Amino acid sequence: MSKMIGMSQKKDVVVTENLQMVYRVGKVEVPALRGVDMTVKEGEFVAVMGPSGCGKSTLLHLLGGLLTPSAGSVRIDGIDLASIGDNKRTEVRRNKIGFVFQRYNLLPTLTAEANIELAKRIHGNGHKFETSARELLTMLGLEHKLHHKPSELSGGEQQRVALARAVVNRPSILLADEPTGNLDSENSQIVLDMLQTLNKKHRQTIVMITHDSEAAATASRILEMRDGRILNRVKNLFYAVEPTSL
Ligand SMILES: Nc1ncnc2c1ncn2[C@@H]1O[C@H](COP(=O)(O)OP(=O)(O)O)[C@@H](O)[C@H]1O
Ligand SMILES: [Mg+2]
Repeated sequence: MSKMIGMSQKKDVVVTENLQMVYRVGKVEVPALRGVDMTVKEGEFVAVMGPSGCGKSTLLHLLGGLLTPSAGSVRIDGIDLASIGDNKRTEVRRNKIGFVFQRYNLLPTLTAEANIELAKRIHGNGHKFETSARELLTMLGLEHKLHHKPSELSGGEQQRVALARAVVNRPSILLADEPTGNLDSENSQIVLDMLQTLNKKHRQTIVMITHDSEAAATASRILEMRDGRILNRVKNLFYAVEPTSL
């Protein structure tokens, strides 16, 4: 599949149709998603906002193939996740999707650099970030922390390493679940600035969940969720935000 960089038709990276998820807890059914139709185009930075429990994490896990929907479909780069087997789905996840979670999930025994290098080796898909782990960490202001282990890094630093790890293989889509949820405002701003840089300079397509409206304002489009659904009211904030100074 050819990339149409710079051309007017942007390809659909994520498409969901009538996506539904019902969790079963014993005999109780918990409807978490009640039919979500969304499309994310190449190069978009979409924020998904909504109150706790409205289904945001469920949506993100379904987009990333970490959960199987009760009904409906998810297509990533044109591949219907339900139409392929588990092995192929794992491959799609490794090659096309980068994850960042509220908890950084770094391997505790490895240094920052080694965490990223490992991701590169596991998920190698031939579309490597043109930079090395070292260069990526330098871009994130962590060049002096290359050889530190997660326990020797602050929360903000760990999240920057997690972000570097998520994008080192140039995923088609970066999925971020409350990436600033555990961070103070200074570190939140650093992580949000990084996401913007990745989006603007490296054309990284991003879906970010947040319940923080300031975080959402860094995105180019905001989807609001309530009670398992995306509301029709969509804010487009392309020019609504003052550029932040670095
Ligand atoms: N593994 C699970 N088992 C049962 N119910 C779940 C599970 N995960 C989430 N839920 C329920 O699904 C709904 C949506 O949860 P979630 O997607 O985590 O929302 P959000 O991320 O917006 O806070 C909530 O009612 C939650 O309690
Ligand atoms: Mg959540």
